[in-house]
Amino acid sequence: MKRINHKLVAIFLIILICLPFWRYLAFSKKNGVSDLTNMNSKSCGECHSSNPSPNVIISLQADSDLNNIPPQTRIKFTLTANLPNAKVSGIDVAVKNQVNGTQNVGTLTPETNSGLKILNGEITHSSPINCSNSQITYNFYWTAPQTEGSYFLQGAVLMGNGNGKEDSGDIWNWLQPVELKVKTTSNVENNGESKNKSILYL
Ligand code: HEC
Repeated sequence: MKRINHKLVAIFLIILICLPFWRYLAFSKKNGVSDLTNMNSKSCGECHSSNPSPNVIISLQADSDLNNIPPQTRIKFTLTANLPNAKVSGIDVAVKNQVNGTQNVGTLTPETNSGLKILNGEITHSSPINCSNSQITYNFYWTAPQTEGSYFLQGAVLMGNGNGKEDSGDIWNWLQPVELKVKTTSNVENNGESKNKSILYL
């Protein structure tokens, strides 16, 4: 009886010791992350280099005017990031109802064969993606919702040293929130009557 009790105590202690590491054991983080776009959080810094770095230079291009997005339009985004000597990269991008909001808006879609996927409505890497000349390019789409409003594209991009570990050699930065204004044009407000539309284009 005494032996069994010792075993139980040992098992209990092992579980206790492992508890803080549970999230590391349970999920392979390198195969994508989500819910890390809030700029009041530590984001990637929880496990990689602790603070965002301005050395990771991020630029974003869109194929349409972000101040006048008709409902349900699909917009293509091209995000480029750069860090000297970066080997691999990963990303978490979301469109939220407000800056640092919690609610996803519209639909994000990764470009086919881009190495990106959707996780909890957000864009992320399927596995670390190889950089080319210390640079990475991500292509993805956002389909606007039906409801008018201002929404915010925001996220974090990590440029890693490629050693397959989460360490301070993996440098990241915020994608500063970008406002997406979904607006119904006046002719669409008139129930989309095509005669109004054709007058516009005369
Ligand atoms: C809770 C911890 C945690 C957070 C937060 C986290 N990661 Fe990681 N990441 C890991 C771990 C652990 C690994 C190592 C490999 C694995 O997951 O098995 C890793 C590895 C990576 C790698 C490969 C790095 C290399 O040098 O080989 C990339 C890229 C990556 N993560 C991207 C991200 C991005 C982007 C974010 C933030 C948006 C992020 N991670 C946030 C835990 C985390």
